Amino acid sequence: MKRESIPDLTNSALTRPPAAWASEHLEGLLIPTSVLQDRVTQLANEIAASRPREEPLLVLSLLSGAFLFTADLVRHWTFPFELDFIKVASYGSQTLPGELSWKHDIQSPVKDKHLLILDDILDTGQTLHQVTSRLQEEQPASIRTCVCLEKNGTQARPFPFHADHVGFIIPDRFVIGYGLDFDLKFRQFPFIGVLNPDPYASGNH
Ligand code: IMP
Ligand code: MG
Repeated sequence: MKRESIPDLTNSALTRPPAAWASEHLEGLLIPTSVLQDRVTQLANEIAASRPREEPLLVLSLLSGAFLFTADLVRHWTFPFELDFIKVASYGSQTLPGELSWKHDIQSPVKDKHLLILDDILDTGQTLHQVTSRLQEEQPASIRTCVCLEKNGTQARPFPFHADHVGFIIPDRFVIGYGLDFDLKFRQFPFIGVLNPDPYASGNH
């Protein structure tokens, strides 16, 4: 995938969220639902066209953030594949690799399979770096990665990680919706918005 072809929203102005979703926790709308869905369709086609022709393909979705992205992406695919989920939590600082905890084991062996790992967002790169290193030990035939969002500045951080497929490059802000949460909330938004930290800062939520 050519980097120039990834929509770059780094300097996009935020717009007003649809009235039904207006919330003091939402500073503004970054990616409206229709734009998100069109890009997910494009990504699905791009992955379908570039996937290894040989099977077996095992798609691994990282819970919880990638649940909506995964659901929307995979329903475009008519070719055969296995789909499984891993729940990982990474404890560490921005600058030091943390301990990666796996909360779900993969049901099906990874050895000799072509893996496609799906995640919601690439921020420090730590999660995908550690997940791919760990899976590599199980000798898959190949590993490819796809993220819905990549934060601008990611590649300058201590664990630069390049995903094979990226939906959008976004500003380095805390985003919510389309699976991404703040305190387990806002995952259900059908769009990507920017969190307004103020209601939390003032303790009035
Ligand atoms: P990384 O390991 O720093 O690349 O972080 C990836 C994980 O951090 C993602 O899968 C998200 O769960 C979480 N994360 C990073 N940035 C955001 C954000 O802006 N909103 C919500 N979750 C985020
Ligand atoms: Mg996550």
